[in-house]
Amino acid sequence: MKVTDVELTISAVDPKQYPTTGYPEIGFLGRSNVGKSSLTNVLMNRKDFAHTSGQPGKTQTLNFYAINHELYFVDVPGYGYAKVSKQEREKWATMIETYLTQRKTLRGVINLIDGRHQPSDYDLQMRDWLDFYDIPVLYVATKVDKLPKSKVAQQKQLLRRELELEADEPLVMFSAKTKVGQAEIEAWITQQIQ
Ligand code: GTP
Ligand code: MG
Repeated sequence: MKVTDVELTISAVDPKQYPTTGYPEIGFLGRSNVGKSSLTNVLMNRKDFAHTSGQPGKTQTLNFYAINHELYFVDVPGYGYAKVSKQEREKWATMIETYLTQRKTLRGVINLIDGRHQPSDYDLQMRDWLDFYDIPVLYVATKVDKLPKSKVAQQKQLLRRELELEADEPLVMFSAKTKVGQAEIEAWITQQIQ
């Protein structure tokens, strides 16, 4: 997957704003601050094209990035951002549910979890939810540069077990810093958009 062209087509909150070009699409989901925008940047080969931040809640809209005029990456706002009101949170949940259930061109979802910890209740909830919608999912554990190298394989097993992943459900250990796992993620995306 050689990325030669990247454009932010639209930041959308409503299905009426979704692009109608018909390109296949990959969505990036996961808790606030887990590293969705950072992964998107690595895949797009750009530094801070999708804005990242140490503060959770940076991405607030569905950001559609057109890649090479043939594919969209959709950076989805993070869930589990505690500092927003209940009303805001509900608005957020509706936005994401609408996206996942109505978007016909969505070929797969990359569900990010923090590679350093146990999956949170939010992660487990998301797992159940995605199962229910029957969307192809790639699990990506982020920030693995922060794990001792000797712990990576063990942590991968722990995450697989806790998330109750089946043998045919892939999990990639990834770091936006070292880019470990990038090739595996790209291979999965290539498969989904064919
Ligand atoms: P929201 O937009 O708030 O939902 O967050 P996000 O999931 O888009 O996270 P973002 O990519 O903005 O990253 C959050 C913070 O984690 C930033 O400070 C990043 O630099 C850092 N970060 C992301 N990925 C990695 C990684 O692989 N390794 C390390 N060490 N830090 C990372
Ligand atoms: Mg973000």
